[in-house]
Amino acid sequence: MPITIKSTREIELMKEAGRILEIVHNELEKELRPGMTTKDIDRLGEEIIRSYGCIPSFLGYNGYPGSICVSINDEVVHGIPSEHRFIREGDIVSLDAGVIYRGYHSDAARTHAVGRISKEAQELIRVTRECFFEGIKYAKAGNHLFDISSAIGRYASERGYGVVRDLCGHGIGTALHEAPEIPNYEMKRKGVLLKAGMTLAIEPMINIGGWEVDWLEDDWTVVTRDHSLSAHYENTVLITDEGPKLLTLTTQTAKDQESEQAE
Ligand code: MF3
Ligand code: CO
Repeated sequence: MPITIKSTREIELMKEAGRILEIVHNELEKELRPGMTTKDIDRLGEEIIRSYGCIPSFLGYNGYPGSICVSINDEVVHGIPSEHRFIREGDIVSLDAGVIYRGYHSDAARTHAVGRISKEAQELIRVTRECFFEGIKYAKAGNHLFDISSAIGRYASERGYGVVRDLCGHGIGTALHEAPEIPNYEMKRKGVLLKAGMTLAIEPMINIGGWEVDWLEDDWTVVTRDHSLSAHYENTVLITDEGPKLLTLTTQTAKDQESEQAE
């Protein structure tokens, strides 16, 4: 599949899909607390998504049984919501969600602290977020795709973190996963030329320990091989001639982003 360039009309729909997903994440963050099950989060997320007239894009995707991926501590991504899995004080919880609004997808992930967490865990969450912002400095028409990948990978590796290699970011639009694949590690090749109108889900997955991961028996949950903590941060991004436009993070001011990038 070639990389699609979205029309003005399509971009408007993707912006709306992004805006709604941002609300979903903000609501889930407010509700997240110890004692909840991961299924509680999933139910709540699905309810919010549907209340905006959207469809949860993960539900049924390749047979995935939830609307929200809930991945705790050493779980990297794709944790399956369960009535038997409880959120506990001191956990770090990655929430990944996608919505379809009138045929157009958005995809975003956040890692949250539940109550008090260790300094190391706090730093992991912060650096993972910073990796994303470091990467999107290059998300501009005229640059190459792997400028983004390399910037993310370098930022994490320089700080001693493991960068997950078995999963990547991706193009997004009328499908959740479109071309191109977006690695989060340094690439020798340049990758495709970025053009205005491309929409990309950029999603660093970063481990305190090694980069290696395993799949659990459920065939979905990805965990770090060394069981070190892992964090995930993702936004759907529109490439423009001026730079990146974050479709799933609109309320954060440009100033916040700058100070974040300066850190
Ligand atoms: N953000 C994840 C991704 O881009 C979501 C996929 S989970 C699935 O791959 F359940 F939908 F597969
Ligand atoms: Co994604």
